[in-house]
Amino acid sequence: MNQRAGVTFAPSDLLEYIGSSDNAIKLVNKIDWARLPRQIAVIMDGNGRWANQRNLNRIEGHQAGIGAVREVVETAARAGIGALTLYALSVENWKRPQSEIDALMELLKQYLARELPTLLRHSIRFDAIGRLDGLPINVQRDIEAATKATAHSTGMRFVIALNYGGRSEIVDALHHVVADIGEGKIKATEIDEEKIVEYLYTHDLPELDLLIRTSGELRISNFLLYQVAYAEIWVTDKLWPDFGRLDLLRAIVDFQRRERRYGNVDAGDA
Ligand code: FPP
Repeated sequence: MNQRAGVTFAPSDLLEYIGSSDNAIKLVNKIDWARLPRQIAVIMDGNGRWANQRNLNRIEGHQAGIGAVREVVETAARAGIGALTLYALSVENWKRPQSEIDALMELLKQYLARELPTLLRHSIRFDAIGRLDGLPINVQRDIEAATKATAHSTGMRFVIALNYGGRSEIVDALHHVVADIGEGKIKATEIDEEKIVEYLYTHDLPELDLLIRTSGELRISNFLLYQVAYAEIWVTDKLWPDFGRLDLLRAIVDFQRRERRYGNVDAGDA
C-alpha cells in the first residue's frame, strides 16, 4: 500500500512523474489499477489551431505537439498501460504542403533520436505501423533503428501510426490473406474475425480499449477501424499541445466509469 502524499495506491513511478498536486492525487486515487485499458490509441488533433491561436506557424504547433507526445508516452508507461498507439500521419496527410510534411518527418527523426534513452529507461518497446515503405528512406532507417534498439524491452508497447489508414490496413490484410490462401498456408474456411486480427498491422498488440481524440472533433478519421469496434471513445476540447499527464489519467478514470456491455443487456434488464 502506498500511503505517500495521501495516495492509497498507485505505481510510485507514476507519482514521481505527475507530482503530488491535489488534482493529481484525486485522480490517481480514482484509478482502478486492476482494470487499466489494455491499449490506448490517440488521435492527436489541433496542432495547427494551437499555433494559429498564438500567431505561430503550423510547424511550431507540431513542435509543441512533440512535448505532449513525450508526456503521454511517459505517463502511460509509468501507469502500466499495455500499449499506446499514436496517430501521427495518415495516408491523407500527404495532401498537406510539402514544407509541413518535411517538418513532420524531421520532428519524427529528432524525436526518435532524443527519446531513445527515455524509451529504454522505461523498458518501452517501440514500433511503427502503416505503409512504412512510402516514407522517406532516412525516416524508414531511423524507425528500424529505434525498433531494433528497443526490441528486447518488456514494458509498454509504443506504436506510432505513420502513412496509416484504417481502410488501407484492411486492404493490406486482405492481400496478405489471399496470398496465404494461394500458397496453401491457410484455408478460406478458416477466415473468421480472429483470423483477420492476425493479419492486421496491430496483430501482436493487446485489445484496443480506449480511443482518445483531442480538439473536440467527433470523428474516427480512418484510424484503427477494425480494432475500434468495442473501444470506448473519449473526446476532449483541448488541443493536442495542451494535452498533458493528468489529461491521460482523466481519460482512464472516465473509461473505468463506463459500463461496457459488448452488445449484451444490463444485468438488471435481463
Ligand atoms: C494534427 O494536428 C496533428 C498531426 C497531423 C500530426 C501529429 C504529429 C505530431 C504531434 C508530431 C510528430 C509525432 C511524433 C509521434 C513524434 P493538425 O495539424 O491537423 O491540427 P489542426 O486540425 O488544428 O490544423
